[in-house]
Amino acid sequence: MLKFIHITDVHLVEQGHALYGLDPYKRLVRCLDSVIEEHSDAALCVITGDLAHVGHPDAYRQLAHALERLPMPVLPILGNHDNRENFREFFPRVPVDANGFVQYEAAIGQYRALFLDTNEPGVSYGVLCERRAQWLADRLAEDERPVLLFMHHPAFALGIRSMDRIALLDTGPFQAALSGQAHRIKHLFFGHIHRPIFGSWRGIPFSTIRGTNHQVALRLDNTAKIPGSHEPPQYSVVLLQDESVTVHVHDFLDRSERFWLGE
Ligand SMILES: [Fe+2]
Repeated sequence: MLKFIHITDVHLVEQGHALYGLDPYKRLVRCLDSVIEEHSDAALCVITGDLAHVGHPDAYRQLAHALERLPMPVLPILGNHDNRENFREFFPRVPVDANGFVQYEAAIGQYRALFLDTNEPGVSYGVLCERRAQWLADRLAEDERPVLLFMHHPAFALGIRSMDRIALLDTGPFQAALSGQAHRIKHLFFGHIHRPIFGSWRGIPFSTIRGTNHQVALRLDNTAKIPGSHEPPQYSVVLLQDESVTVHVHDFLDRSERFWLGE
């Protein structure tokens, strides 16, 4: 059984600054403390975007520094709050595709993990343009391995209408890239929503979770603004076997009582 960690929406700001009354760096450190203490045997750690809140270089400097503590490789991608140039300055070893987008692949056991870049400068919605989608189509055409797909934005509506307005804007190129290949996508991991949500889309199982700093409240009515909340932060512990993908969600700051059942 192979284990990896999924973290999302870290939203780091300049050192010492607060975001919605919390220190995103301290929150990240608490998250990494938990990963190191409880899941240091994980094979790798994926962070699905919004690494920084306004893409400030100091956020990426802090992130690179904080991640040095992890004993496993870290595979980050970009969210709408990120700045590609600033990210690449502090993460020069993260691969990019031929067009400079932060899209790359990694082998996770028998699975082929594909990482997509849906960042579009200056906007909150996601973009997977023809060039980026072609990269995905080319990778999917290369072999028949089962695929785990990672991206920041969801490509379909989740029912939180304030967030649905800033999902992937034009899903055409993405859907075209997946045409005839959806059965090979064994799980889709994304961020952006700052809430735990699970389901399937076109037969592809998906999961997304809360961020490490601030969250989005469960409001399904059509609010003009995004409803924020300080519900507990999370990360996922994902277990891979030949025939299963299992996603455990960990509220890593929860300190409610632990005890043995049946006594
Ligand atoms: Fe976010």
